[in-house]
Formats: sequence, structure tokens, C-alpha cells
Amino acid sequence: MSASADILFKPQPFGPATLRNRIVMAPMTRKRSPGGVPGKEVAAYYRRRSEGGAGLIFSEGAFIDHPSAQAHEGNAYDNIPHFFGRDALHGWERVLAEVHGAGALFVPQLWHVGEVRRLGMADDPAVPGYGPREIVEDGEAVVKAMSERDCEEIADSYARCARTAREMGCGGVALHGAHGYLMDQFFWPESNRRSDRYGGGMENRSRLACLVVARIRDAVGSGFPIVFRFSQWKMTDYDARIAASPAELGVLLDRLVAAGVDWFDVSTRRFWEPAFEGDPRSLAAWTRHLSGKPAIAVGSIGLDRPHQSKVFRDKVDIAAKYADVEPVVEALARRDFDLAAVGRAILADPEWPEKVRTGRTAEIRPFERADLAAYW
Ligand SMILES: Cc1cc2nc3c(=O)[nH]c(=O)nc-3n(C[C@H](O)[C@H](O)[C@H](O)COP(=O)(O)O)c2cc1C
Repeated sequence: MSASADILFKPQPFGPATLRNRIVMAPMTRKRSPGGVPGKEVAAYYRRRSEGGAGLIFSEGAFIDHPSAQAHEGNAYDNIPHFFGRDALHGWERVLAEVHGAGALFVPQLWHVGEVRRLGMADDPAVPGYGPREIVEDGEAVVKAMSERDCEEIADSYARCARTAREMGCGGVALHGAHGYLMDQFFWPESNRRSDRYGGGMENRSRLACLVVARIRDAVGSGFPIVFRFSQWKMTDYDARIAASPAELGVLLDRLVAAGVDWFDVSTRRFWEPAFEGDPRSLAAWTRHLSGKPAIAVGSIGLDRPHQSKVFRDKVDIAAKYADVEPVVEALARRDFDLAAVGRAILADPEWPEKVRTGRTAEIRPFERADLAAYW
């Protein structure tokens, strides 16, 4: 291991546990769970990443138990795992045992797609999409503007799943509040034009997410880490912003911390980019500074090209080669963030952490388009 990379491999407290290093496997949808049930091959996939040396492993987004959480748009949202129901939970128990057995800590990511869903989609075609606004297509309301009661129901669904994660022995629970899905749709002024308590300023736009976090905290008690992922960017718009200034970001973070968030997972496409004009700090560094909570950075760590969402993927070359981890090491040393999450690089090469640790970076498999479909 090169001397400078040592900091990546320093243990890190995480709730009552200690991670063996600072490398996190980012949550990545794999669509390999027919009927919502992660099977043996899913467990083996996660085990390989634990054996490869990651300290913390987030699951791919898994649907909460509310019927509006899922979408099935052709191939895009099929075979996504559930985090409810006997068979799916049995599958996650196996994943957990495999991951913990090989030394990483396992944390499931809970997901509600929000207004990506449409009326008519499985499992229950009578259930419309749920989101901040009504969406009408061909004269039919396919997404409903959530009522206060709907917000409560969704928060309770998250809380039930989080309690299950705790009872199962997971290392914490992660919430997908990013990329244009439900909670992010409320954060973003473009999709949230509400005039009630859930719309308007950031205090109101963050209300749903805070309700979710608070209900989870009530359900899991103290000492069980709640990780909140947010982003400025959306799957459909890389230039979108939920917070126009550090002050507005500060409001969001303060409220989430008050509700019970322990860790922020700050999703960017390039982890080093300045978040706001006139200041070199990244979004993760701002988050750590403003919230006083530890932060996870993600975005092109160890790769020379950024992630492309499925909306843009077919239009560009997405192959990416190893990029030196020196900038990550420097940012960790500056305490810009506490953990470094790696997505595509760990998809392409489960041994990425171990190869970096032992200086075998020349042996790291580059990321290719085929890795999105492949499963190993
Ligand atoms: C195939 C794939 C699936 C993803 N699925 C999810 C997901 O389920 N939840 C989520 O929060 N982010 C998801 N992401 C985003 C990643 O967690 C990560 O933030 C992004 O890939 C940038 O990191 P990278 O540059 O290291 O790949 C996904 C990314 C990829 C490539």
C-alpha cells in the first residue's frame, strides 16, 4: 500500500460498530430479484464485494412496503428487491449473513420512486403514483398529489422497514432521498409547487423527509445509524439544484439532523467539484461543515469518467478506467468527508478495495458498459 493511501484503510466508527476501512460500496440497482426476492446469487454478489475489502456495503435500493413505492416501466424498474414480505426478508437475511461473514457492515437502502410510478403499474394497477403534484396523462390522473395522510402513511411504511432492518441485525438503514425520487421530488422546487405545509421554502419542502426520518427514529430507537442520501442532480437533469446556496442547504441539513439523521451520503457525479460558486468546497465538505455530522462522498472515485443515468447512458461512451485515488486521500486528510463510496469501480471489480490497499492498481478491471448487465 502506498503511504498516502493509508488513510483510506483506517478504521472508522459507525454507530456502535467499527468499519474496517473508509471504503463504501455505493447503492446500485441490479434488477436481479424476481418477485422482489433477492436470491442466492444476489447474496453471493454482495459477499464477493465484502471479500474484496469494502468496509461498508449499501444494498441496492429496495422498495418499502407501501403499494405506491414501486414502478415497473418496462425493463427499467423490474426485478427490484422488496424490503418486506417473508421471502424477500429471508433473502436479505442471507445477504446480511454473507456480507457480515466476510467482514463488511451491511446497510439496506430503502426506496420509494414517487412520481416515477403511474396508475396501471404492477403490483396493484389501481394504485397511482404518489408525489408532490398531480400528473394527468391523456385526461387521467396517473400520479396523485399526496395528502397529509398519504405523507404519514409513507413515513410509517419506511419506519416499519427500518425496524425490520434493525431486528434483522443490519448495521443501520439508508434512505434514498436523491436523484429525482420521492423525497427529492419534494425537495426540488421544479417538482414541488405545493402551497400547503409541504411546499414553499426549504423548511416546508423538507417536511416529508423529516417526517420519514423522525418516524424511523421512533421505530428504531437510538444507536442505530440512519444514513440519508441526497443530491442536487436528478436522473433527468444533471444541472438541477434543490439548494441554491449554502444557507438553503444548511436549512435542509439542520432539519434532517433534528429529525434524527446520523450520516449524510452526499451524491454527486464528481466528488471534488465545488458545490457553490466562489468557494472550492465540495458538496460533501459543505455538508459535513454545515451539519456537524459525518459525511460520505461519492462520484467518480477511482474512475476517469462520471456516472451516466439511464436517461443519458445510450448517448455516450460510458467505459471508464482506473483513476488515481490521490484526490480522495487528500480530501479525507482535509476532513472534507469521512467515508468514500465507490459505485461502478466495485461493480467492475469486487476486489477494488483490496487491490488499492496492496498497490495492485494495474490489475484493476476497468468499468465497461457490459458491467451494467453482467452479474458476478
Ligand atoms: C448501475 C447503477 C445503479 C445505481 N442504483 C442506485 C440506487 O439504487 N440507489 C442510489 O442511491 N444510487 C444508485 N446509483 C448511483 C450510485 O450509488 C453512485 O452514486 C453513482 O454510480 C456514482 O458513483 P460512481 O461514480 O463511483 O459510479 C446507481 C449507479 C449505477 C451505476
